[in-house]
Amino acid sequence: MGLIGVIGGTGLDQWGGLEREFSGETPYGSTSAPIAAYEVGECQLLFIARHGHQHSIPPHKVNYRANLYALHQAGVEQVVAVNAVGAITERYEPGMLAVPDQLIDYTWGREQSYSDGGAFGLQHIEFTTPFSETLRGDILSAAEAHSIPVLAGGCVGVVQGPRLETDAEIRRLRRDGCDLVGMTSMPEAALARELGMKYASICLIANWAAGISELEITMEAIEETIRDSVEVARSLIGHLCR
Ligand code: HPA
Repeated sequence: MGLIGVIGGTGLDQWGGLEREFSGETPYGSTSAPIAAYEVGECQLLFIARHGHQHSIPPHKVNYRANLYALHQAGVEQVVAVNAVGAITERYEPGMLAVPDQLIDYTWGREQSYSDGGAFGLQHIEFTTPFSETLRGDILSAAEAHSIPVLAGGCVGVVQGPRLETDAEIRRLRRDGCDLVGMTSMPEAALARELGMKYASICLIANWAAGISELEITMEAIEETIRDSVEVARSLIGHLCR
């Protein structure tokens, strides 16, 4: 694997004991947190906590451009994102992991491109398959080799947040073809593509989306549900590196 970038979300604000940390300053501003560097097996892993180390940056305020740019500047060509999501369709039970292959972007008002009229120039990236099929394949192979259950495929509806959805919004997402709902895969996936980096997501399924079950969706319940999946995701990424 060589060098790999990992962007951790809810439940994964730290990779492990600190080895080395450097600041993530870019022309687009600072990263959500300093970049932490680790040796994992044969590979160097650069970790950014998407919501900051105190988990204080909401999804619509994350500096996605700085996070991806800093990884790119550091030489990263492959980025594994970890994203907490809610489940809409029955196949995707809370507590499971999924590696989605499609997304629909419902976010608005985020800095969603490096093509902003400046020095970067204008790019119309190809985005038919928003996640790298190669990197998805590597993650799924590592999961299979180590008997880690992972659901392959699925479409994530990426919403603005930070509030959760209404019942009607989730019914709309289901009609649109979404299996999962999250707040952070966009613009992350598109920015990685603009920089020519492979990008794939490991989704931690944290809850049934609004209106799907009678259960109230609380942050405490979400954290409780993904506590084990976070460790599974960490070991899966470890296997990927090795
Ligand atoms: N909706 C949006 N984002 C989420 C959810 C949800 O139900 N659960 C975890 N992230």
